[in-house]
Amino acid sequence: MHPSIVTVTSTQNHQDLCITPPTSDIALQGRIRIPGDKSISHRALMLGAIAAGETTIEGLLLGEDPRSTAACFRAMGAEISELNTDRVTVRGLGETGLQEPANVLDAGNSGTTMRLMLGLLASQPDKFFTVTGDGSLRSRPMSRVINPLRAMGATIWGRDGDKLAPLAVRGQALSAARYDSPIASAQVKSCILLAGLHTDGQTTVTEPAKSRDHSERMLSAFGAQIDLDPETNGVTITGGATLRGQHVIVPGDISSAAFWLVAAAIVPGSDLTIENVGINPTRTGVLDALTLMNADITLENKREVAGEPVADLRVCYSQLSACELSGEIIPRAIDEIPILAVAALFAKGTTKIRDAAELRVKESDRLAVMAAQLQAMGATVTEYPDGMDIVGGATLTGVETDSHDDHRIAMSLAIAALRATGTTTIHRAESASISYPNFIETLKQTLGDT
Ligand code: S3P
Repeated sequence: MHPSIVTVTSTQNHQDLCITPPTSDIALQGRIRIPGDKSISHRALMLGAIAAGETTIEGLLLGEDPRSTAACFRAMGAEISELNTDRVTVRGLGETGLQEPANVLDAGNSGTTMRLMLGLLASQPDKFFTVTGDGSLRSRPMSRVINPLRAMGATIWGRDGDKLAPLAVRGQALSAARYDSPIASAQVKSCILLAGLHTDGQTTVTEPAKSRDHSERMLSAFGAQIDLDPETNGVTITGGATLRGQHVIVPGDISSAAFWLVAAAIVPGSDLTIENVGINPTRTGVLDALTLMNADITLENKREVAGEPVADLRVCYSQLSACELSGEIIPRAIDEIPILAVAALFAKGTTKIRDAAELRVKESDRLAVMAAQLQAMGATVTEYPDGMDIVGGATLTGVETDSHDDHRIAMSLAIAALRATGTTTIHRAESASISYPNFIETLKQTLGDT
């Protein structure tokens, strides 16, 4: 028995996560389950709220972000049962049945809540809404959805020349439109599709590379007509459909699985199976990237659950090699770049990440924050406007690090700490609960650290 590897100290508002790996014997072993997919959880709550009849959701993520979505839609009259993973029921209000809330809608830290919801709010005739979020969300660009919504006739005001939340929305009947998005963003695409749902015609969104397609799949399952054009990465929704409540089964979140994939890939002796992981091809960039890096990953028990492909992922330690990540893989791995940067630290050669400028406008500037935190641990990382170079073969030293209130940074640093000497402290580690409420328990479980 060695002393605890993982300890947590809590101050009044924050949590420090301290990780001290022993010099030997720290492999990750066993079978684990991960929380429900965040993107699918948001969409199930939202579509449930605007559909006719009852939606039941199995496997909902109980993180802070879906809680923000549930709170916003409850404030607009949707009856959503107490949130739990077994079964949540949503009594829908019908497409234009959202009620004008008596107070400001708070999307918390969640870009998906704010951006998708704006498409619905802008198209609710004669109702007035105000929307805000935490400090991070209030600094994230909203013009990427406000401009195309305005082109459909929406009335929206915001801070800093209508670019930033808090925002005010006067709902009204919108016109169908075509929008050629300059960025591959599922939040932008989904916002416009949801606005298009309430128009008289066909609304099309195209994008430079294909982003996650959970909205298209779920809208279609709820009864909307969706047509795809693979050549333009285009999605067309025909307005005026009546959505009907459905039974949604949420698979495990591959973005959460990514932390364990990398942990087991970089810690010698590891052999870990992650059960029930969503492997929708618009999300599997992390598997492709790790495979390029020579990781030992096997997909077992592949199946389809409620319209989404699912598998168990077995990952064993192997010596990784460097790779180049750019182009179409980036939107398919957009949330996993921070943890892939950690994998790159233990690969042979220099890994180059490019075309990833979007990371600068996530919950934190993930390029700047990851570069600075990993450099503090002794890594050689060069930051570029749209990416970074990471020199492999690093020897990391445990130091004080900071999540910058970004859940994926907190968890990425925790995994890097498993291969550092001494104690790594991650300040503001409570941010992990945005997408992964029991991350620390699972970390201890995989390490046999009781
Ligand atoms: C999400 C889309 C992505 C992703 C985010 C969730 C979604 O954002 O980073 O965590 O559920 O649609 P962008 O659309 O801004 O790339």
